[in-house]
Amino acid sequence: MPDLSIDFAGIKAPNPFWLASGPPTNSGYQVMKAFEAGWGGAVWKTLGVPVINVSSRYGSINYRNTRMAGFNNIELITDRPLKDNLIEIEEVKKYFPKHAVIASLMVESKAEWNQIIKDVENAGADGIELNFGCPHGMCERGMGSAVGQEPAVLQTIVEWAMEAATVPVITKLTPNISHIVDPGLAAAKGGSDAISLINTLKSIVGIDLDTYAPYPIVDGKGTNGGYCGPAVKPIALEMVKELAKHPDINHMPISGIGGIETWRDAVEFILLGASSLQVCTAVMHFGFGIIREMKSGLIDFMKDKGYTTIDEFVGLALPNVTEWKHLNLKHKVIAVINAEKCIGCELCYVACDDGAHQAIRLSKSNGTRIPEIIEENCVGCNLCALVCPVENCITMIQQDDGSENVSWEDRTLANNIPTTFDDELAGGKGHHVPKPTEALKNRH
Ligand SMILES: Cc1cc2nc3c(=O)[nH]c(=O)nc-3n(C[C@H](O)[C@H](O)[C@H](O)COP(=O)(O)O)c2cc1C
Ligand code: SF4
Ligand code: SF4
Repeated sequence: MPDLSIDFAGIKAPNPFWLASGPPTNSGYQVMKAFEAGWGGAVWKTLGVPVINVSSRYGSINYRNTRMAGFNNIELITDRPLKDNLIEIEEVKKYFPKHAVIASLMVESKAEWNQIIKDVENAGADGIELNFGCPHGMCERGMGSAVGQEPAVLQTIVEWAMEAATVPVITKLTPNISHIVDPGLAAAKGGSDAISLINTLKSIVGIDLDTYAPYPIVDGKGTNGGYCGPAVKPIALEMVKELAKHPDINHMPISGIGGIETWRDAVEFILLGASSLQVCTAVMHFGFGIIREMKSGLIDFMKDKGYTTIDEFVGLALPNVTEWKHLNLKHKVIAVINAEKCIGCELCYVACDDGAHQAIRLSKSNGTRIPEIIEENCVGCNLCALVCPVENCITMIQQDDGSENVSWEDRTLANNIPTTFDDELAGGKGHHVPKPTEALKNRH
């Protein structure tokens, strides 16, 4: 049986699934209920200075039939008294000594950091997470993403925390920055024990078309919120990868956050370098019970691949994530339609003709609606396979024999790259493009 337990920068947990700091970790009741359900750890709703929250405070992107494909909030840190939270942390630790309870913190001055770190350590927190992410409200008061976006300030506060803390310190980064490596390096220079990412992305999820106010609406007005949920997973994966690959950052374990909802999402984060996982929106949507499927799916994956511990597959996808210039320019695939699966919807034709390379023709011969791929026009872009509603109906089939591997960098070094558009070496040369007037052929 695979062992799901982890030791994350010294914080031990029975499994890598932690609740991220947010509404599901607002109280001892919720954290205990989550641990009962099977979660391995919880990052407490951020503790800090007194705040006042607004009503309403959440918005979402409902994409077609999927509710909350992206989620947005303008909530601040906890509005519950610090004293109550500390008592509840202590109580949770009494019942669940082996689970990870991490206190997320956000205050301003060095004295405040010292004090609150002492307070949560006395309450029994196993670790501390520095919240440098909140992209609304708190940043206007010089905290949250206002710190996360200023690497020098971030480093100073990490140093304060490292001085004050006796438990491991995790620095939580904001994605609202063009180069995630900069705050990652600042966290490393400050001596942080670990990093976590991502916090939410600055966003507006929509506008009410009658009142012209952005969602979520507070008495006729709104403000940018923080975006999260399934829609942000690709951004989170990319940022986790950036830090996991960096030689001056990757000595710190990474807690992966952003759009995690299933065991597959979790495995993807682990393969890109995360060694613990945090979940917020999926729990707000479906409740603590999703942990059952997450844990059993992860166990089945590990059994299937022969892994006995999480550590064995942390970062295994990283060697396959390279720069564009190293990709094999000799590799060639083209689309192939499985006529037996095709339902004749013609979506692939429309996509390729209007949105790609005019490499699909409608074949009305034999009374079928099954389109045909024009092989010589197909550049192997994948679009038709992505739009096709039938699983595995369109597959991309390799055309080269795999014997040649030449990258842009190889060609640059060999002085063998196109220098003008007329150059015979230019990539698009020889690709089929219809005459512009062919677009008018159906005019009456
Ligand atoms: C309503 C809401 C409140 C949040 N509050 C906090 C917070 O107090 N502290 C914090 O560090 N992150 C907070 N977050 C961010 C989450 O911890 C997490 O980083 C983010 O939502 C991405 O994960 P997800 O896609 O699983 O939700 C909050 C998120 C939501 C949706
Ligand atoms: S792979 Fe791209 S170019 Fe080829 S048929 Fe599909 S959409 Fe057209
Ligand atoms: S999108 Fe798929 S199912 Fe629809 S016509 Fe094309 S191949 Fe057939």
